[in-house]
Amino acid sequence: MTNETLPKTAKLTLGDHAIDLPVMVGTAGEVAIDIRQLRAKAGAITYDPGLGNTGACLSKITFLDGEQGVLRYAGYPIEELAKSSHFVEVMWLLLHQELPSAQQLAQFTHDITYHTMLHEDLKRLFSSLPKAGHPMAVCAAAVGALSTFYQTAGNQTHEQNWIDAIRLLAKMPTIAAYSYKHSIGQPFMYPRNDLSYAGNILHMMFATPCEAYEPNPIVARALDLLLILHADHEQNCSTSTVRTVGSSGANLFASVSAGISALWGPLHGGANQAVIEMLMSIRDGKRTAREFMELAKKKDSGVRLMGFGHRVYKNYDPRALILKQACYDVLGQLGKKDPLLDIAIELEQIALNDAYFVDRKLYPNVDFYSGIIYKALGIPVDMFTVYFAIGRMPGWISQWLEYQADPEARITRPRQVFMGATPRPYQPVEKR
Ligand code: CMC
Repeated sequence: MTNETLPKTAKLTLGDHAIDLPVMVGTAGEVAIDIRQLRAKAGAITYDPGLGNTGACLSKITFLDGEQGVLRYAGYPIEELAKSSHFVEVMWLLLHQELPSAQQLAQFTHDITYHTMLHEDLKRLFSSLPKAGHPMAVCAAAVGALSTFYQTAGNQTHEQNWIDAIRLLAKMPTIAAYSYKHSIGQPFMYPRNDLSYAGNILHMMFATPCEAYEPNPIVARALDLLLILHADHEQNCSTSTVRTVGSSGANLFASVSAGISALWGPLHGGANQAVIEMLMSIRDGKRTAREFMELAKKKDSGVRLMGFGHRVYKNYDPRALILKQACYDVLGQLGKKDPLLDIAIELEQIALNDAYFVDRKLYPNVDFYSGIIYKALGIPVDMFTVYFAIGRMPGWISQWLEYQADPEARITRPRQVFMGATPRPYQPVEKR
């Protein structure tokens, strides 16, 4: 069916009751049935656990076609951005859905660079938390705590939201690096304004006050690429969380703190850490790759092939394709070898030739190869998901801002199909 032949309404028949529901088409051809009047007109709701068939918003930020393996930020293919752009420019692109002029980019870069310091009192939050605590928990706490330092955040004017967006984009690397420095007992390193966004992250992570440190440009470029690839992915779990929390009127810091928590889970961003742990367990001889794959196919084993499968992609995730090549490039440029890459390739080959994975259209996702690069760059394993969070920050913020400006936005409040007890009289405890 083409756009021209597509009917303007979809007919729903429930018993002897028929209603027409408006049909809408997105700019990339996505067809949606507008069910906002469904309950009022038909007395019924939809049932869609995991919301796999539910469009919860209109968005101009990111497009992805899971069948074709296509990802575009504001119309620009991810492959082109990965090759020719850089993370700060991509941040602007997501926030404005246009590429910046040279002057806009210079001003934005200046703003991002000059808001990187944290209030000195915020340092005490890091030192009050156990060193062994996961850095994602530390980052969620620190981002949430920004609301206590910038109490104007609840005053959601356009100007205030923009200031908060700049603060968050600028301070997230500092928060991330401080969470790491605290975990290893090293002094916090103040940001350096002469470095690039990625170079400054490396400086705050790996420099010490004892000696001069210059970030390796190969490492900084590879990190910048990872940040670009993670920058947005439309209505994924953490982004939907950020929008949902923001829909109640909660401020940007509170909303993004919730997004960080959502990202932490192993089915979402936490998969990058889980992948490397899976590869290391195979390297260390816990099981062979084939034994692992057999286990991953058994439902009751509780084991999944981490970094594989995706709710939306039923084809190769285009980000995984870029990252697979980047693994070879980065390892080659740094003169490193990593047996984990060979294990990953072996797992992928087994999966691509196994009916279980082929039939279910399970392909490598962004997390399958990213960890190998993080490891080559010297990033500690439990910081992998934190780096994902730094990358996803402009996506979360852009989506939150879009929600705030959306005249059709309402507080997120799904319904349910109640399957519990029907009314019954209360029984005093001695009679139960
Ligand atoms: N290993 C083994 N079986 C799998 C896997 C996997 N990685 N992924 C899906 N399946 C099976 C699943 O058991 C189910 O089988 P059946 O139809 O027989 O019940 C079928 O494939 C469909 O899976 P699903 O769980 O219903 O799919 P979903 O869309 O709800 O979940 C997913 C998507 C990403 C959570 C899932 O594929 C998964 O758990 N993957 C591993 C974790 C992972 O890599 N997550 C990162 C996702 S991409 C980056 C991000 O979002 O942060």
